[in-house]
Amino acid sequence: MRILITGGAGYIGSHTAVTLLDRGDEVVIVDNLSNSSAEAIRRITAITGREPLFRQLDLRDEHLLDEEFAANRPDAVIHFAGLKAVGESVAQPLRYYAHNLDATFALLRTMEAHDVRRLVFSSSATVYGGGQVAPYTEDDGPIVSTNPYGQSKAMLERILSDVAEADPRWSIALLRYFNPIGAHPSGLIGEDPNGIPNNLAPYITQVAVGRLDEVTVYGDDYDTADGTGERDYIHVDDLAAGHVAALSWLADNTGVRAWNLGTGVPTSVLELIAAFEAASGTEIPYRVGGRRAGDLASAWADVSRARKELGWEARRTVSDMARHSWNWQRNNPDGFATAARPLTDGDAP
Ligand code: NAD
Ligand code: UD1
Repeated sequence: MRILITGGAGYIGSHTAVTLLDRGDEVVIVDNLSNSSAEAIRRITAITGREPLFRQLDLRDEHLLDEEFAANRPDAVIHFAGLKAVGESVAQPLRYYAHNLDATFALLRTMEAHDVRRLVFSSSATVYGGGQVAPYTEDDGPIVSTNPYGQSKAMLERILSDVAEADPRWSIALLRYFNPIGAHPSGLIGEDPNGIPNNLAPYITQVAVGRLDEVTVYGDDYDTADGTGERDYIHVDDLAAGHVAALSWLADNTGVRAWNLGTGVPTSVLELIAAFEAASGTEIPYRVGGRRAGDLASAWADVSRARKELGWEARRTVSDMARHSWNWQRNNPDGFATAARPLTDGDAP
């Protein structure tokens, strides 16, 4: 199959591109590189020995997108591209709503024009808002989110459901990711956040590699086993495999359906720090600070729907995730800006 990946130079998109190329699919990546690097495309090629087609374009430039569909009409689309920083979305709501909605509208119109109606959409556990009790089932959301980023995902889920309802030729998978971490075992691709990371795992690896001094644990007085927040961390390669499973569903079904992609296992902040200490063989200094506004005590997935309907489940453990994240970070202390160096035997995953 030929799969077009929007945002395919980004964190989850690059891992999904590797998984698809490894299984023999043709991959077309469109990305404006606003939050990623062309180096990711070179690394995808190095890992797989196959080169994806890459076009640097902004989805909102519909004319260029149309040209790309005309030149390389895909069988299906995986749509990762968008803005994703929660705090930034609170400060710049108009920019976030306009970007995430306009990019998706342009994509949907172009798909219609070229008679391509199979779509996998990157949604998020953030559409559950947090009023419910974990584990979350798909029927718990979407609800009104506490921030514009999450709300844009909930709105897009609604819009995509309306599109599928209006025209039964569409098949659309809404994948609600929990907390993606980890990296490809080669250490060649991984998460490369701009500036100081907002999320826990990249923050920990940047402390471990010496770029940051210490982790601040956002509260140890939650009603959880050790008092720190619990999340459902999922290896990015398991997430990529979830997209492959969703593509198979699209080939056999029409309509729209949502699935949680998580492990179904909660891990606390202190447990994650301990996993990274074991993986890196270094002590990771941390101090306990106050709670972060808007945080939940616990959020993890009920994964039974994906297991039953997609035949998919996550396989990697938190220790795999920590090992692979660390392998990526120590090989690339400055992310994709690090000059590529050849891997040595000591770098084996
Ligand atoms: P990312 O920022 O690494 O990747 C997104 C890619 O899209 C980037 O390469 C960026 O340059 C590109 N892009 C952004 N706007 C574009 C546009 N208008 N046209 C073309 N390219 C554009 O993010 P990620 O972590 O890989 O996340 C992928 C998707 O998954 C996003 O939609 C995100 O909201 C969603 N998601 C991510 C997480 C997470 O923790 N990483 C959790 C839940 C959901
Ligand atoms: C955050 C986003 C969520 C998004 C998800 C993607 C917020 C409020 N929520 O969720 O919308 O879908 O990322 O992965 O930003 N923590 C620390 N110290 C840190 C960073 C985090 O203790 O420096 C704690 C948090 O309190 C939380 C856990 O670590 O308990 C995970 O935090 P994070 O990685 O930011 O993910 P989420 O908060 O789940």
